[in-house]
Amino acid sequence: MTIDEQQASVAVIGLGKIGLTLAAVFATNGYYIFGADKNKEVVASINQGKSHINNEPGLDQLVSDAVENNQMRATSDNVEAVAHSSIIVVIVPVLVDTANQIDYQMIDAVVEDIAKGIKKGSLVIFETTLPPGDTKNRFGKRIEERSGLRLGTDFYLAYSPERVYSNRIIEDLEKYPKVVGGINEKSLLLASTFYKQALNCQLIEVSSIETAEFSKVAECVYRDVNIALANELAQFADQTGVNISEVIVASNSQPYSHIHSPGIGVGGHCIPIYPYFFINKGLNQGLTPLAREVNDGMAAYAISQVKKEVGSLANRNVLILGLSYRENVKEPTKSTTLLLIDQLLNMNANVFVNDPLFSDREIHAFGVTPLSLQDKSISKIDIIILQAYHDDYKNLNFKDFTNCKLLFDGRNQLKQEDIKKHGITYQSIGQQSEKGEW
Ligand SMILES: NC(=O)c1ccc[n+]([C@@H]2O[C@H](COP(=O)([O-])OP(=O)(O)OC[C@H]3O[C@@H](n4cnc5c(N)ncnc54)[C@H](O)[C@@H]3O)[C@@H](O)[C@H]2O)c1
Repeated sequence: MTIDEQQASVAVIGLGKIGLTLAAVFATNGYYIFGADKNKEVVASINQGKSHINNEPGLDQLVSDAVENNQMRATSDNVEAVAHSSIIVVIVPVLVDTANQIDYQMIDAVVEDIAKGIKKGSLVIFETTLPPGDTKNRFGKRIEERSGLRLGTDFYLAYSPERVYSNRIIEDLEKYPKVVGGINEKSLLLASTFYKQALNCQLIEVSSIETAEFSKVAECVYRDVNIALANELAQFADQTGVNISEVIVASNSQPYSHIHSPGIGVGGHCIPIYPYFFINKGLNQGLTPLAREVNDGMAAYAISQVKKEVGSLANRNVLILGLSYRENVKEPTKSTTLLLIDQLLNMNANVFVNDPLFSDREIHAFGVTPLSLQDKSISKIDIIILQAYHDDYKNLNFKDFTNCKLLFDGRNQLKQEDIKKHGITYQSIGQQSEKGEW
């Protein structure tokens, strides 16, 4: 069965982790969804009622129900979805390239398609994180030019950032207030009315579209800067022989201290990327760029700590646990493991990577050798670096790492005693480590 296309009132463009979840929740709350994604496999699986996103509690059921109840269908033709909808929600990524310049390719293509399909009276809402000003100046104006419709009167424009956390997106969509800004009063009213019903959440209506855009980038900068501070304190704790984990518990026991957790790096397609949306637009001095430097320097810091203990890494067998940028999500974008791989290969180390969420072929694509923890050759590993603390590593038994001399715990999560009882030296970030025998 297919939805009567005339009823399909909301086009969600980009059916990835966030877009598919939004689409399924909108459908559950009574909207007809015409989702669009350029990936034909994604479209085919959704039309069969199957979610292609793993580890998102509740999503499989919502997608299956929405498709079965004729509330949702998908297409690989953005123009078709836009043409059959009166509300268009855009949620395709904007990333940065290797020189940290903003890469608009995906979203620019979507905007061209919107201009081709948009009907008079439609509301376009951008949810993708963007540099402030882009919704109106880059995208709104382009739709106006290409479609011949007047921005603010013939079609309406709003921005509402997506602030959810992977693995609990559905919960966060209801729990967090939705920040909404519009190009004018009518745009704001239309967008707020939509979100009230579609997400059933509280709203924060802000006075301009740029305020809404700025608020999301500011959240990410806040996190990056505070993680950088924690990393700086942790490195100083290493120098002075104090345990940073103990310090943080003590310091944060009053309400004005919120020291974050230090770690081997910051990854994913949010925190290491969005600060550049400010940096590239003029905030290029001060804490924001410094935090990027500190956090991206943590991989080198970890390797330098390892080298202090074991000397040269040439021809050493180094196993990195976790290709994903963080625990329990399959997401390699800007993962610290990529920085570790580069640096270790430059030092002529033999680099192995384990990640239960990735296939061997996917790991090979990063120029390293995948290694199963059941493989007998784990006995040949010299050094382990824990990068992403997946649940699978919680009960890891180190007894079969018979040649391993050092474990670097990049997330300060493992129990030192479990490591040391196998004769392996334990190192971490900002927690006094004891010397073993190398
Ligand atoms: N993932 C998160 O945790 C998170 C959290 C908060 C906000 N966000 C925001 O959501 C955005 C999307 O994140 P995501 O995790 O859903 O990304 P994703 O990579 O999982 O999905 C993006 C989807 O967009 C599709 N796409 C790309 N170009 C397209 C085009 N021209 N036409 C149609 N479809 C196209 C891709 O095929 C893909 O399925 C992020 O860029 C960010 O702004 C993400």
